[in-house]
Amino acid sequence: MRVLLTGGSGFIGSHIALLLLENGYDVLILDSFINSSSNVIKRIKIYLDSKDIKYKLETINGDIRDKKLLDSIFINSINENKPINIVIHLAGLKSVAESLIKPLNYWDVNVLGSLNLLLTMKEYECYSIVFSSSATIYGLCESLPIREDHKISPVNTYGKTKVAIENMLYDLYKSNKNLWKIISLRYFNPVGAHPSSMIGEDPIGIPNNLFPFLTQVAIGRQRMLQIYGDDWETNDGSGVRDYIHINDLAEGHLASLEYLNSKDSCLEFINLGSGHGYSVFQIIKQFEISTGCKIPFSIQSRRDGDIAKCYADISKAKRLLDWTPKRSLEQICLDGWNWQVNNPNGYS
Ligand code: WQD
Repeated sequence: MRVLLTGGSGFIGSHIALLLLENGYDVLILDSFINSSSNVIKRIKIYLDSKDIKYKLETINGDIRDKKLLDSIFINSINENKPINIVIHLAGLKSVAESLIKPLNYWDVNVLGSLNLLLTMKEYECYSIVFSSSATIYGLCESLPIREDHKISPVNTYGKTKVAIENMLYDLYKSNKNLWKIISLRYFNPVGAHPSSMIGEDPIGIPNNLFPFLTQVAIGRQRMLQIYGDDWETNDGSGVRDYIHINDLAEGHLASLEYLNSKDSCLEFINLGSGHGYSVFQIIKQFEISTGCKIPFSIQSRRDGDIAKCYADISKAKRLLDWTPKRSLEQICLDGWNWQVNNPNGYS
């Protein structure tokens, strides 16, 4: 099976690419590298070579908004008799804060880029896609744990673009129910790193997200962790989220491919999370216990757009995909820390 993996050199994409290659899928990565390092590809190859794993990995540096490029990718794959069987679509901008400052960029890259991709897939008769959606689409969590039929009410542009793309997928499926095989995976908070420390999270600039900021404090790249509010309606007052190990998330994509291969057509929206909620203080405590590091922090005011509590009901993923997360919060902390220790400056 040959998979086109858009955004395949990013934090999530690289872990999916590695897992697919280890499981015998041929992978074609399309990435613009605006948010990731080309060193990721080298690391993936080094790791697979070190395990004597035979693999077929190709990489194209390009933007999903470039329709001519997408056409050439699909035409060449047909002409070279290695057609693209399935697309895993991760490419897109993903910062909530940035989406509020540059909303049109997010509508352009995320939505028009996805429209481009879907038009091209339709043109070249590739009807299987796994889409990278996000728990951000739920907005304020009215009932917990969050099920897939929870109200969809994104409160930021990033989340709105993900809803728009899910609507495209819904309409596409309804236009020909016997043709399309579609899964939209709603990620909660992907964290940690591959246990080999060959790949991991390497945000550009100052991390927006808790976990990479925390590991950078631990390694001394950041002075102190700012905790955005300790007056939330939670047990200890700090925000509660669902942190899922990046390899559990990657395995959710492998399970999705296998599910799509078993169906004639489908449309499913599925949560991918750990199913547990942990507060910021709980994360800090576990990280300190697991790594022996001390994490200095200061309490700041709440961050715009934040919510108190959010964690997933993952029963649908268990039922449909026969998938459950295997890695503990301790494993998340250990793998994330090992990545940071072995790569103090990420991929650079
Ligand atoms: C987690 C908790 C913060 C940083 C975001 C996106 C979501 C997804 C994952 C793309 C919250 C607190 C954070 C810090 C802190 N990305 N925090 N100090 O906001 O749940 O989700 O990333 O799909 O779409 O919205 O993740 O890691 O930013 O925050 O106290 O320096 O940590 O208030 O409670 P979030 P996060």
